[in-house]
Amino acid sequence: MKKYDLLIVGAGLFGCVVAHEAHKRGKSVLVIEKRNHIGGNCYTRSVDGINVHQYGAHIFRTADKAIWRYMEQFCEFNHFVNSPIANFKGEIYNMPFNMNTFHALWGVVTPDEARAKIEEQRIPCEDPQNLEQHILSMAGPDIYEKLVRGYTEKQWGRPCTELPPSIMRRIPMRFIYDNNYFRDPYQGIPMGGYTAVMERMLESADIRLETDYLDDREGFDALADLVVYTGPLDALYGYEFGELGYRGLRFEHQLLECPNYQGVAVVNYTDRETPYTRIIEHKHFEFLESPTTVISREYPCDWKPGDEPYYPMEDAENRERYERYRLRAAQEEKLRVGGRLGEYRYYDMQDTVKSALSKAEEWLS
Ligand code: FDA
Repeated sequence: MKKYDLLIVGAGLFGCVVAHEAHKRGKSVLVIEKRNHIGGNCYTRSVDGINVHQYGAHIFRTADKAIWRYMEQFCEFNHFVNSPIANFKGEIYNMPFNMNTFHALWGVVTPDEARAKIEEQRIPCEDPQNLEQHILSMAGPDIYEKLVRGYTEKQWGRPCTELPPSIMRRIPMRFIYDNNYFRDPYQGIPMGGYTAVMERMLESADIRLETDYLDDREGFDALADLVVYTGPLDALYGYEFGELGYRGLRFEHQLLECPNYQGVAVVNYTDRETPYTRIIEHKHFEFLESPTTVISREYPCDWKPGDEPYYPMEDAENRERYERYRLRAAQEEKLRVGGRLGEYRYYDMQDTVKSALSKAEEWLS
């Protein structure tokens, strides 16, 4: 059996960047992945020529020019700018909250008029004890009821009165007519989809799909000098310190015989009654004109072990539990841990790339 310098567990963005960096340093790499495809949660699948973001919309953005340039080795980005729409019972508002939103809500035209209206709406609260008090004190009831409450309650599965203010410390409000959700100078979608990006990153690695590291840890460890694990740490240790909690997400993908379903890539449904939080129409990420379209409804849901883990519940109890797992992993000489699951953190793609590059430097030099 061939022996490798490096075994990477998980073909997500983190594992792919580490694989590429290892190859650059002359190392031989085996990547194993339990799913039947590479790309992790960034995976895109072509349906009728449309790149479908199978595990949720992925928009690459960064303020770090070096990260953008790094990614450009593997793809050309298009000029997509995320300008989502909020739909509250058929009323349409621009996101993030900006002059277009304020005009649609109250008919105000100038920034001063908008600020005065918000001041008039605010219900001040010195020491907000929950998210509802916090949002009402920052923005008042119109924004809270129409744009925050229903969406947030669906997202977290709890009433805003039971959620901590820390979930949304600041409400991003802009007093300019600008619907660009992000402020980063670099933003776009890789032309040809994310899977093609990962294929290029893994060009020189051996890959085994539908292979679960946990099925034969000892056997896989014997294949390499160093093991990089990007899966969940609680699963690695048989949940011996308890499970790490996540918020789940369910996607309902649908191919429609219609060229344009909603006219924009992302629509947030901000009322409480609509059971999903968002509809993504994938072709708008790529300015595609074609006779069919693919939409995905996103349903936040409770999570149990065995489900796909999406958003870590980073409360004190989970962080403390994670810390025990982290210390346990640190005792293993040839094991290295990284990525959003391994570190139990929500990482944007730019954070994932940044982390993978710095870890690769540390682990491989
Ligand atoms: P990722 O989860 O992608 O990969 C880990 C891989 O390891 C998986 O493929 C898994 O199957 C595999 N694995 C686990 N255990 C294994 C085992 N025992 N054996 C073998 N394989 C195993 N970011 C951004 O910048 N812009 C955006 O718009 C979004 N959008 C977004 C939407 C949603 C819904 C989520 C949840 C996240 C985002 N992100 C994002 C974040 C982005 O998805 C994230 O940064 C990367 O996917 C992280 O890559 P990783 O490789 O760390 O994990």
